[in-house]
Amino acid sequence: MPNHNSEREQWGSRIGLILAVAGNAVGLGNFLRFPVQAAQNGGGAFMIPYFIFFLILGIPLMWIEWGIGRHGGKFHHGSAPGMFDVLWKSKLAKYFGALGLVISSIILIYYTYIESWTLAYSFFSITKSYFGLGSFEEMKTFLYNFQGRETGPYFDGIGTAYLFMIITFTLNFWVLYKGVSKGIEKLAKIAMPLLFLFAIIIAIRVITLGTPDPSLPNNSVANGFGFIWNPDFSKLSDPKIWLAAAGQIFFTLSVGMGTIQAYASYLKPKDDIALSGLTTAATNEFAEVVLGGSIAIPIAVAFFGVTAATQMALGGSFDLGFASMPLVFERIPFGEIFGFLWFLLLFFAGITSSVAMGQPVVAFLQDEFGMDKKKAVAAVATIVLIAVQFVVFFLKFGFLDEMDYWAGTFGLAVFALIETILFMWVFGADKAWLEMNEGGDIKIPKIFYYVMKYVTPLALFFIMAWWFVNDAIPILLLANVTPENVPYIWGARIFMIVILLLTFYLIKYAWKKREAENGN
Ligand code: PHE
Repeated sequence: MPNHNSEREQWGSRIGLILAVAGNAVGLGNFLRFPVQAAQNGGGAFMIPYFIFFLILGIPLMWIEWGIGRHGGKFHHGSAPGMFDVLWKSKLAKYFGALGLVISSIILIYYTYIESWTLAYSFFSITKSYFGLGSFEEMKTFLYNFQGRETGPYFDGIGTAYLFMIITFTLNFWVLYKGVSKGIEKLAKIAMPLLFLFAIIIAIRVITLGTPDPSLPNNSVANGFGFIWNPDFSKLSDPKIWLAAAGQIFFTLSVGMGTIQAYASYLKPKDDIALSGLTTAATNEFAEVVLGGSIAIPIAVAFFGVTAATQMALGGSFDLGFASMPLVFERIPFGEIFGFLWFLLLFFAGITSSVAMGQPVVAFLQDEFGMDKKKAVAAVATIVLIAVQFVVFFLKFGFLDEMDYWAGTFGLAVFALIETILFMWVFGADKAWLEMNEGGDIKIPKIFYYVMKYVTPLALFFIMAWWFVNDAIPILLLANVTPENVPYIWGARIFMIVILLLTFYLIKYAWKKREAENGN
């Protein structure tokens, strides 16, 4: 066995580990995706399904993933194929784990590109590049020119975006190369406190805005909070709201994709899971509901009114984050500083998440192929850098959205269901329960035993089935796709299938190789 006797890395400290997992969870989803989801799906009423799913999916999956991860780590596995292999003595187990590599790498590919926009925009803020643009439309044009979706007056082609993409990728792989405690943990220890500091500064600035234009008394921060939080209970009868809430819970907590497991695999066998899992989930919710809910939407209402803010929110996370926020920054005193802090905070949120998406694949190459870290990181960097070209150049054809649906939404529910069944039913609920509680600083309340065994998998099954029938089939059949995008959408699909097949092949090869070596 090439790797089983080599020492695995470990986290340096408890606080470092918690910050790293919190960094994994707290991401662009908290500050850009959440406010838009809440505003579009019933405002305050959205929080009802959101908290229900937090309790029956979010928290249980957190503990399940920490449990699977730490358990797999005992057998020197840092990624899902190996972890599933020790949970289920079947030759098939490891192939189910392929999803844990594929989903996180696909998200990594597009997420890091978005993250690079935040770095670019923090630079544009401090240099006041977008200052002087008068309307939302102009800000959008600025963004679309930057992204290369439209040619226009502000950028000559995609060069600037490309440069920031390269910088962001280099930083990400540099952190991964430095390793678990010297790279990821160190980054989290610096970036997380700063992120919270910046977010609090900006939230306070938002709250103290009052009514920016006294002649328009309805455009106030108070109405902004009202807009995002006033419950529209009639919406609760719409299943879409429930599914949106479930989707947000997966995405924001980073569950259902293999990254939490990878981080947990670097724990010692008796390190606490119960309290750490809870703490990281709670930290994420604070960042999401309290901070994420207090910035982008209230500020848009205060400056542009409810009608315009609704329009901006309907345009999605990017319009809100990259067009409406800059429009505010150019209007407030020291706006370039606030803009700089806002985008830098997004960048910190992003990078502490994207390194987490890279770690499972790096761990896979190290643990299952016995590659050294340098080679593993170089291999992943090469693949990702090739893959990202498609995302960069085909952005306007919906390439990114297609990947985001299959990996970032549907895939999460599928993978979460598989791992829950494997852990709670195949490995066995009693053994799983012991594993999750082992070394715990608190005891997980017994009710979660039943939740994890029955409620979580059932809820996952229904969510997956609903998505399959109502979203996946129409999406698969290309409903709502403009004809010129069709080849690109197929391109994105083929691309994802190729990645999946390649992963199957690598898994097969790794296990064969190991069996041969064990036989000697
Ligand atoms: N949880 C992150 C966010 O809220 C996203 C993420 C997805 C992180 C997948 C890791 C893995 O933005």
